[in-house]
Amino acid sequence: MEKAACNPYPSKAMTRFYMAVVAVLAFTGFGQMPIFKRYYLADIPGLGWSANFFVTHAIHYIGASLLFFIIAYQITGYFMRGRHYYSLTRSGWARVIFLVGLVVTGIFRVLKNMPDIVFSPNFTMFIDFAHLGFAMLFLFSCLGFLLFHTGWCEEDATT
Ligand code: HEM
Repeated sequence: MEKAACNPYPSKAMTRFYMAVVAVLAFTGFGQMPIFKRYYLADIPGLGWSANFFVTHAIHYIGASLLFFIIAYQITGYFMRGRHYYSLTRSGWARVIFLVGLVVTGIFRVLKNMPDIVFSPNFTMFIDFAHLGFAMLFLFSCLGFLLFHTGWCEEDATT
């Protein structure tokens, strides 16, 4: 019997909140690279701040904290109730793996920015490219799954 697709988020508001946080993280993430001034994006009225590294950096950290909240909220909800009703699809697992990669490499990037923590140049470069790589994998996979309507989870037939 065909399993019904489901929405892992308890409410539309939570879905929109999650999508807004990811959008802010993506924009401010790329904003930390010197591209918004170079490609005139920061010249668009109202976007001047996007060329300021410290502003995009601070917003990226706030976005990361909100992402941690959403992840903790979802994990708690899943183990308290969700696991009895739905299971993750393959595309759901793919997004979980990319998000874990983003969070782990993101934490290492935060550590790298601390004055008394020093990583080797190779490890630093690896972390930088890994974070960027997971960001691309995550964002393009989200776009693909959105276009092909492949959800995060499916309801268990037994429920
Ligand atoms: C959807 C989630 C996220 C996306 C799409 C994202 C994207 C990016 C991108 C594109 C960059 C620039 C990469 C570069 O300079 O090579 C970046 C930098 C960074 N991200 Fe993220 N990120 C995400 C989540 C996180 C999280 C959860 C953390 C922290 C735990 C984090 C911490 C950082 C840090 C510290 C930097 C480097 C800032 C610097 O230049 O020192 N990111 N992020």
